[in-house]
Amino acid sequence: QSWKPLAGRRALVTSGPTHEPIDPVRLIANRSSGKQGHAIARALAELGAEVTLVSGPVTLPPPIGVTTVAVETAREMLAACQRVQMAETAPLDIAVFAAAVADWGVDGSAPQKLKKTPGAPPPAIHLVPNPDILATIAQSATLRPALVVGFAAETEQVIDHARAKLARKGCDWICANDVSPASGTFGGDSNTIHLVHHEGVESWPTLDKTAVARRLADRIATRFSPVTA
Ligand code: PMT
Repeated sequence: QSWKPLAGRRALVTSGPTHEPIDPVRLIANRSSGKQGHAIARALAELGAEVTLVSGPVTLPPPIGVTTVAVETAREMLAACQRVQMAETAPLDIAVFAAAVADWGVDGSAPQKLKKTPGAPPPAIHLVPNPDILATIAQSATLRPALVVGFAAETEQVIDHARAKLARKGCDWICANDVSPASGTFGGDSNTIHLVHHEGVESWPTLDKTAVARRLADRIATRFSPVTA
């Protein structure tokens, strides 16, 4: 069996959108397909890591060789990530947050389908902030993963906004990507990444999402020396 650089390392990856219910049949969602996050989970597993993927609702099959936990809302995603984080006494080695988490959920989603009443105004939807999963995990006092990688989905000033997120959320690297409609990043097959870290910025060419994932996994592997049994 060939040597794998991430053998013995534990990784958490988030992927896909979150769904925030308005009532039992309606929801707030976004255009994330999970292609990028799922590819990252698979690429880390291919390098030997023990990977748990926490995914919002997607149509992709769970990647082979990865433990997949399916969630719907941002709050469920945070709880699932924290369960992975707390599962063992030693901190996770790697956490990559590729999910497009809804920043807001619906305050008191209705237990029954909202009815259209003739002549009545449409219902008002009141939004409340969701927890920031990346920031919560990155700022954990005792169980912070050794390497925390976030994404930044931006439609303008991509690198400047990513630098601000790097500082604000407390992660080590940010994969900044342009998600303006013309880029086709949300749901599409390719991505153009600027890897922003405390030492500078590495701008990668446009690659398909599998190649982005392999490049990121290789980059992560260079940060860790092999674990000896
Ligand atoms: O799924 P695909 O169709 O393949 O598309 C991939 C992608 C565009 C979704 C992906 O490459 C990407 O950019 N993911 C992050 C999307 C996002 O929500 O970015 P953000 O800039 O709003 O958030 C910044 C970081 O904080 C992200 O790592 C995000 O996962 C995390 N976050 C955000 C809000 C929140 N409440 N909790 C979080 O953990």
